[in-house]
Amino acid sequence: MSAIIIDGNAIAKVVRAKWKERVVRLREEGVQPGLAVLIVGSDPASQIYVRRKVKACEDLGIHSERHEFSATAAEEEVLDRILQLNVDPAIHGILVQLPLPAHFRSRRLLEAIAIEKDVDGFNLYNVGALVAGDTIFPPCTPYGVQCILEYSRIPISGQNVVVVGASNIVGKPMAMLLMRQEATVAICHLKTRDLAQFTILADILVVAAGKPNLITAPMVKTGAVVIDVGINRMPNGRLVGDVDFDAVARKASYITPVPGGVGPMTVTMLLVNTIKSAERIAKVDIARESA
Ligand code: GUN
Repeated sequence: MSAIIIDGNAIAKVVRAKWKERVVRLREEGVQPGLAVLIVGSDPASQIYVRRKVKACEDLGIHSERHEFSATAAEEEVLDRILQLNVDPAIHGILVQLPLPAHFRSRRLLEAIAIEKDVDGFNLYNVGALVAGDTIFPPCTPYGVQCILEYSRIPISGQNVVVVGASNIVGKPMAMLLMRQEATVAICHLKTRDLAQFTILADILVVAAGKPNLITAPMVKTGAVVIDVGINRMPNGRLVGDVDFDAVARKASYITPVPGGVGPMTVTMLLVNTIKSAERIAKVDIARESA
């Protein structure tokens, strides 16, 4: 078997074109969606991700602001900025790029973001809403994976899904989203004993563990759908995922490449969440004006 290679850039283009129309409609009503991205320190990967997010906003006609802080900034300084942005009518989405420097209490900052502007979905209210099966802002990376599966017409109900990686950003919300779509979900991680005995059962295998070549061909069921969320930079500068791509592609039915798979969809879903937020806030404002 030779897998269909899922083109994340092509799916992202289609989704972005669809949502661009909604930005046009909002702008006709006098609303320009706005996103504020806060970045602390100079982590090179974070700098690249933030640049991509800001550029993607520009392409869709979304207003974006980059708020930079030095790695030695005080937590209160960032907190104060979040509180200002919470009440800024030009801003519909607020995102604090992670990871933060070690002396920051990430939870404290994430909790300060207004629930209705929490487009990353990391505030505990939105985490709880996701667990209850009813969030307004699904976290962008797992939301992007869900969108890839939908566009590729891959059935989810009743399928065995194995998620490798139990992070708050990807693994846990991924499991919740697919469980809501009636998949049977197991979450594994780097400490799972005999990982292969779980992965071999997966109809859909989502890998987000941050370890190159963690998933080899013998660990994958013939015909499985393999979604690689890992992004690892090798000593020679090459970007690779967590899956031994060439060998697994000969056994899977679908596979996402790195780069060009999940990555473009993460940014796309951030735009989607920001536009949805602007639509929700505009609706509340219109209702208030006509009351
Ligand atoms: N760092 C890595 N992924 C993400 C993400 O989806 N959101 C934020 N805020 N930071 C990240």
